Amino acid sequence: MSKPRLYSGMQPSADSLQIGNYIGALMQWRDLQESYDAFFSVVDLHALTQPNDPAELREKTRRTAAQYIAAGIEPSKSTLYVQSHVRAHAELAWVLSTVTGFGEANRMTQFKDKSARYGTDATNVGLFTYPILMAADILLYQTDIVPVGDDQKQHVELTRTLAERFNARYGEAFRVPMPVIQKDTARIYDLQNPTSKMSKSAESDAGVLWLLDDPAKSAKKVMRAVTDSEGVVRYDREAKPGVSNLLVIYAALTGRQIPSIEDEYAGRGYGDFKKGLAEIVVSEFGPVRERALKLLDDPAELDRVLAANAARADEVADRTLNDVYDKLGL
Ligand code: ADP
Ligand code: NA
Repeated sequence: MSKPRLYSGMQPSADSLQIGNYIGALMQWRDLQESYDAFFSVVDLHALTQPNDPAELREKTRRTAAQYIAAGIEPSKSTLYVQSHVRAHAELAWVLSTVTGFGEANRMTQFKDKSARYGTDATNVGLFTYPILMAADILLYQTDIVPVGDDQKQHVELTRTLAERFNARYGEAFRVPMPVIQKDTARIYDLQNPTSKMSKSAESDAGVLWLLDDPAKSAKKVMRAVTDSEGVVRYDREAKPGVSNLLVIYAALTGRQIPSIEDEYAGRGYGDFKKGLAEIVVSEFGPVRERALKLLDDPAELDRVLAANAARADEVADRTLNDVYDKLGL
């Protein structure tokens, strides 16, 4: 029997990914690619919903793909491609927009949050229809599971609704996917502001650990991370968000349980604990960074790999799109 399908993606919205992307997404993708027929996309069409310089967007897209590979996504095992290389994404998004209610789209909380932040004039319609493009991304590949952060859960729910609606109206064209929401312990917070999520689009990057940064710089950021005055290495998200966040990062990167790390640092100060974590960060991300930079040294080869993977994605996506057009009378 063939393996179940998995789809996930990330926007090329910065020069480097941050370790929240690594711990919350890439590490899981790397494991899941063994048991799933996985499609991992760099979703550059989605990135167009933000202002972009074209040359920079192309470079960010390459860099994001290189970091997927450097983190262990194998382009010979998984299908790792750039969204815009597969034309069916935009075409299916149009079709799906015609089976989406305006009110239904209008209920997406991420759009409400973002458009409130940007203001009406700086908000483009693409941002409004973003979840429909995301539904197309997922449905094109007859996806069984979609690993996402909880901020994307509502979009996957919409995807399911659209798939079921289309199937009921026009005949079975889509598999109805299941979201796999990342565990709370996989959520990483900003080192300077440990109650807000670490993000590649944070206003200040003082508390952001970049995958492609010089490891010495990341080590310094760990040493400067906000903690508290208790001086005890103990997990308590409410009372000790800074230390808890560092414990989560420590546990994720070493595969150890939090209580065992608390025991190791019992009776020692935050300085020791941070030094331990800084060493782990350096030894984990040093090699990832090296691999990514090496891939970026040969952009022609990277582009060749991405093109070959896009061809594979294209085949699957076209099959779905042709069936959809056929069912619609197009
Ligand atoms: P960013 O906020 O860095 O732009 P995205 O929203 O593009 O990140 O998310 C890309 C992927 O990385 C998603 O699967 C998301 O759940 C994961 N991710 C992003 N930030 C974090 C974080 N701080 N902790 C855990 N996972 C994260
Ligand atoms: Na996506």
